[in-house]
Amino acid sequence: MELKDKNILLGVTGGIAAYKAPGICSLLSKQGANVKVIMTEAAQKFVSKLTFQTMSRNLVYTDMFEEYPQDAEVAHIQLAKWADIFVIAPASANSIAKFANGIGDNLLSATFLAARSKIMIVPAMNTFMLNNPATKENMQKLRNRGIEVLGTHFDLLACNDVGSGKMLEPEEIVEEIDSLLREKDLAGKNVLVTAGPTIEAIDPVRYLTNHSSGKMGYALAEEAQKRGANVTLISGPTSLSRPKVSKFISVISSLDMYQAVTEHFITADIVVKAAAPADYRPKEYHPQKIKKETGDEFRIELERNPDILKLVAAKKQDQIMVGFAAESENELANAMAKLTGKNLDMIIVNNIKAENAGFQSDTNVVTTIDKHKNMERIGEMPKTQLAKVIWDKIKRTFL
Ligand code: CTP
Repeated sequence: MELKDKNILLGVTGGIAAYKAPGICSLLSKQGANVKVIMTEAAQKFVSKLTFQTMSRNLVYTDMFEEYPQDAEVAHIQLAKWADIFVIAPASANSIAKFANGIGDNLLSATFLAARSKIMIVPAMNTFMLNNPATKENMQKLRNRGIEVLGTHFDLLACNDVGSGKMLEPEEIVEEIDSLLREKDLAGKNVLVTAGPTIEAIDPVRYLTNHSSGKMGYALAEEAQKRGANVTLISGPTSLSRPKVSKFISVISSLDMYQAVTEHFITADIVVKAAAPADYRPKEYHPQKIKKETGDEFRIELERNPDILKLVAAKKQDQIMVGFAAESENELANAMAKLTGKNLDMIIVNNIKAENAGFQSDTNVVTTIDKHKNMERIGEMPKTQLAKVIWDKIKRTFL
């Protein structure tokens, strides 16, 4: 996360979704951000000032003309200057209309007028208010000024109407803030990431697979996307929710993955193969369910799947190729052999037996080895954090 030590100004307007805004505040504070909150008068009818004060460990601002103890400057100017990002969540139709039309009649809208930081608006309102042409025009005006206006969820709303207008969840909003604050250092790069296991069907009921969860590959894909890359993620079956990437391609078997990678490899600048495609598939697929009357013993003959990475890396032009190695012993020697044998620029070695590392874990411990044989061990950290470190490393070494 890029949120540590960032100054985040959170504007809260009046709407039922205001009850979720303390959740945003809490998540941001937990990530190490400094949060200051401005509430409109209407917002204070839904949530108390004290809630935000406790969550942000800062004074809450509500009034244009109140004197705030530590501020020598006028509050709205001082807050506008302080912020790295100004997030208005929830943003009501009324406040959005004020922002779009330059009205500064309360502390929040006046601060908005003075803001020079990045701005994010998170709408929440009744679906008819959202779809009113005036609101739509106002949101478009703000977008045209380079302001990030987020979407809403479709659901049964507090007012009992069904439709769009429900505010995004605090976790989603924090992800968006994180993304907006990222340096776009991979802008213009086409990144191809593979993730997850593959499954190799035996009959319509059974299959062969492995323990890969897809977490590392998804984290790498999302991180690259946040940094401005155009990311294609080719994923085997996982239980993860679909990440925000430019293109998501879902595949089942190693052969499917091979086909998809071959198709997208040509236009890629950087390829990161975090997937664990099955090395073998059943030689024969039984179109009908195999019955146990077949006998007390049952043998499945397997045949080799293509080594996707090796085959595409053999055709590489300027692409930077990064592979993974899952090893349970002799990790460095085996990884080194894969680095050269598969014509890679870098390999990232997992010891799948290490504690808090490997397939299903949320954390990982890896060693990176680049083609010049530079080696670095990266200690235990969440896979999302590791994704950041890996991209920093790719950038430093190759870009
Ligand atoms: N890989 C691939 N196609 C395969 C198998 C692996 O592209 N059929 C890629 C993986 O995505 C990974 C790298 O090759 O980036 C190494 O995968 P790994 O499973 O560690 O090694 P293998 O090459 O399969 O070798 P082995 O199973 O003998 O350790």
